[in-house]
Amino acid sequence: MSEFIAQIEPLKQAALNELRAAHDLAALDQVRVSYLGSNGQFTTLLKQLGSLAREEKPAAGKSLNQAKTELETVLAQRRGELELKAALPQEPTDFTLPGRRRALGKLHPLTQVTDDIVRIFRKLGFAVADGPEIEDEYHCFDALNTPADHPARDSQDTFYLAPANGDAPQRRLLRTHTSSVQIRVMKQQPPPIRIVVPGRVYRRDNADATHNPTFQQIEGLYVDRNVTVGDLKGTVEFVFRELLGDGVKVRFRPHYFSYTEPSYEIDFSNPLVRKLGKDWLEIAGCGMVHPQVFENVGYNPEIWTGWAFGFGIERIAMIRYGINDIRLFYENDVRFLRQF
Ligand code: DAH
Repeated sequence: MSEFIAQIEPLKQAALNELRAAHDLAALDQVRVSYLGSNGQFTTLLKQLGSLAREEKPAAGKSLNQAKTELETVLAQRRGELELKAALPQEPTDFTLPGRRRALGKLHPLTQVTDDIVRIFRKLGFAVADGPEIEDEYHCFDALNTPADHPARDSQDTFYLAPANGDAPQRRLLRTHTSSVQIRVMKQQPPPIRIVVPGRVYRRDNADATHNPTFQQIEGLYVDRNVTVGDLKGTVEFVFRELLGDGVKVRFRPHYFSYTEPSYEIDFSNPLVRKLGKDWLEIAGCGMVHPQVFENVGYNPEIWTGWAFGFGIERIAMIRYGINDIRLFYENDVRFLRQF
């Protein structure tokens, strides 16, 4: 055996011993550098290979490469062990301690009610539509046949935005109801239409047990040929029964909305309402779409008929869960939210 080859085995053994003795990743890396780094002892031998006698080279090269491969394998294995060790907790662990239970997140009760209503309408073939919360007077009022002197447009009731530039043709506002989305959808697509629109609305109310400056509505719009008040009533009754179970009674009371004719308010009664000490609770507005509204969006009122409604989500949630203060929904106190 040549003198050159004779060095390899002892060097390898020394390196293996040091690799096994390294007890953390930094120490391991030092061993790597001292043997396999660019000036390491193995690297130096490799560099000398070229100056060996020709007949000595093949055996020397082979033996050197085998040793190097073995070192690299052990190095990788040892690195894996030390990485695992570094990831484990340094303190001893008491595996008999009870685990910490993670609190599961849940959907907000208003979201749950909204999702349930949407699910019921989907069964009837309704799609969900959406529109902006920052609206203009046209979509929120004019196109809905609500004239400029109507009290709903009073700045006592509506949040108006400061004009962005003096020449904005329409005053911008926070929508006071989701009915604005009726106009947006009808302007965008031809009849027939079956949509529901859940969303946030804003009014200049002071917060108390039954008012909040922002709350949620779900709007519905159905447009087709030969749509009747009977369809409206049947649909509303079906939805409430699905949502709140049997024992539900629904009553339509004549009312006025500028965008429907005839118009109704929907009162609702069930054992929970009676528990709150009332016979009926007003829960929605609705009616048959006014011909003028169809004209405004370019639908022919001689051909098309329809109904629309707007439910207050909080009202429904309050009945469902027996809650008597709307502000609880907006305080986001987890002790309250956890119950649903
Ligand atoms: N927009 C009304 C409100 O906010 C509710 C409403 C009434 C919506 C009648 C409608 C409707 O679509 O036809 O009080």
